[in-house]
Amino acid sequence: RAPAVTAGGSLTVPAIGFGTYGLNGLPALDVIRQAVASGYRLFDSAFNYENEGAVGAALRSASVPREELLITSKLPGRHHAHDEAIATIEESLLRTGLEYLDLYLIHWPNPGVGLYVEAWQALIEARERGLVRHIGVSNFLPDHLTALMEATGVTPEVNQIELHPYFQQETQRAFDREHGIITEAWSPLGRATDILQDPVLTGIAHKHQITVPQVVLRWHTLIGSVPLPKSADPQRQVQNLTVAGISLDEDDLAAIAALDRPAGRIWDQDPATYEEF
Ligand code: A2P
Repeated sequence: RAPAVTAGGSLTVPAIGFGTYGLNGLPALDVIRQAVASGYRLFDSAFNYENEGAVGAALRSASVPREELLITSKLPGRHHAHDEAIATIEESLLRTGLEYLDLYLIHWPNPGVGLYVEAWQALIEARERGLVRHIGVSNFLPDHLTALMEATGVTPEVNQIELHPYFQQETQRAFDREHGIITEAWSPLGRATDILQDPVLTGIAHKHQITVPQVVLRWHTLIGSVPLPKSADPQRQVQNLTVAGISLDEDDLAAIAALDRPAGRIWDQDPATYEEF
């Protein structure tokens, strides 16, 4: 298994986690149980994915002890007001059937709603009550993070952002690093769009006799990103987790760095303005 990554705070996470967006209902149970068997221990869900029930049921019946698993969910923008945030966290727990969640994130800053600081105070309270062990955010920009830290003195332990070779987020990663915040990557493979066919990445994969997803996931771990790939396929689940021994050289890393592009974002919304969700 890949080595762990530690934040400035008390949270240590595995180098690679498992994304669950798009896994729903009974079929999700088998996929998530399989992911545990494949070796994943960090799982990422969200209230809005409508799969907290499946994630909880799969992990409650998994063959590894609860304390070895790190289970994440996220607060939607429509529930940022304090009391709604608390009720939503409690509802997440009821849906998962778990006594606590390991990590709870504010899903988006939704700055137009203007309540993310209030939501953050609710997460701090939920952590004090033991409903969740660690708290963080997702899709937050430096301004949003600064506002949280100034208002509460509490630094998020994680910031989960869109991050892949076409959208490398260097400024945000530097900000996170400077504040001891773990950067997790959603859609680490660019959601299997053109990235998996990219000629530069294909060339690097051929050179090392590995697959393009392995090149990309190894790159994540080398730049200090914790990728959360999702795969329903057992062989691909294992393949995605088996990257620790891969040595990308300086030429490879320079070639990947050059793939970053201004229009590389997959999600067509900017966190600075995105309000739905
Ligand atoms: P599948 O579930 O059939 O494996 P992301 O995590 O960036 O959102 O990308 C997820 C997508 O990438 C899914 O469609 C998944 O399909 C696909 N995928 C994940 N791992 C691999 C892999 N090793 N090879 C090819 N496709 C993969």
